[in-house]
Amino acid sequence: MKNLTTTSLRVRENQLWILDQQALPQQSDWRPCPDVAALVDHIRTLRVRGAPLIGLSASLLLALLAEGGMPQPELHQALDTLRESRPTAVNLMNNLDRMKAVLTQTHFVPALVTEALRLVDEDRALCNSIADHGAKLVKPGSRLLTHCNTGGLATAGVGTALGVISRAHQQGNVEQVWVDETRPLLQGGRLTAWELGELGIPYQLICDSMAASLMAQGSVDAIWVGADRIAANGDVANKIGTYSLAVLAKFHGIPFYVAAPHTTHDPHCQNGAAIPIEQRDPREVTGVSGSFGSVQWAPLDAKVYNPAFDVTPAALISGWVLDIGIVSPAQVQQGIFQTPLK
Ligand code: MRU
Repeated sequence: MKNLTTTSLRVRENQLWILDQQALPQQSDWRPCPDVAALVDHIRTLRVRGAPLIGLSASLLLALLAEGGMPQPELHQALDTLRESRPTAVNLMNNLDRMKAVLTQTHFVPALVTEALRLVDEDRALCNSIADHGAKLVKPGSRLLTHCNTGGLATAGVGTALGVISRAHQQGNVEQVWVDETRPLLQGGRLTAWELGELGIPYQLICDSMAASLMAQGSVDAIWVGADRIAANGDVANKIGTYSLAVLAKFHGIPFYVAAPHTTHDPHCQNGAAIPIEQRDPREVTGVSGSFGSVQWAPLDAKVYNPAFDVTPAALISGWVLDIGIVSPAQVQQGIFQTPLK
């Protein structure tokens, strides 16, 4: 396969490398990803994360394994194992469905390579379209709040919600960004803060619990988040803490936008209750760890509830900003998400 570079993925000499998103921003560690076990570990530990990026990394690895001589039945097994690595983000399943469709072809090796590279190119283009559509909704002087990380680290392109923010900033319409730290794994505090700094976009980092008082003070003009899955009724699964922001936004009369590519849409999930929500290791809540070290502050035997995502009901969402355009609440009520978008 030809060499390839995104913010957080590289293909060099037919090997996949990932930028360790758990080590950022203190360290910029590129780690090899030679086989399925390595990628599954990277995904489970969130070294590779973000709905689009998870799907792209799995597709690229599959294509590289095919090029390396892995026979078809083993590739099918590899695909099934990768599919199970994170349950909520549907991009992984959607991308692997496309890979599976070409895996049955006689000349499956070049077909897999072409399809994986096409998925990367498509994702770049989808991000650009989302940014173009979304930036139209950002008014001059906006103070925007975002949650988790939805930037170049999480996609092959400029990102989804963060891509919108970045495009709107280029157009001179963003005064500053409030960055939710995003407990428990701090994707906002570590990754979004780092990306905004690299992009030269003014931001202030806040603890998740500070968002309500900022809204009450009138310091937030709009909220922009990404998505891991959009159900047929418009409900959205995204990083835990998204739902509380949406409730707060409704109370304070602040627009709440979800930005995502159509590859995040799942017409087979009737509503948010049908979206599988990943439960994670209690140690993520009883302490914190990263390249800065590990600390445990809760009692060793503390009982923990640690869902990685929550579901925001469609009724709380002002607009779904997709590559195909801006979807309104009225269009959602008319059933636009009940069938595939493309
Ligand atoms: O657990 P993570 O860090 O993969 O969660 C990521 C999110 O919730 C993002 O908002 C979502 O995947 C969209 S990334 C463009």
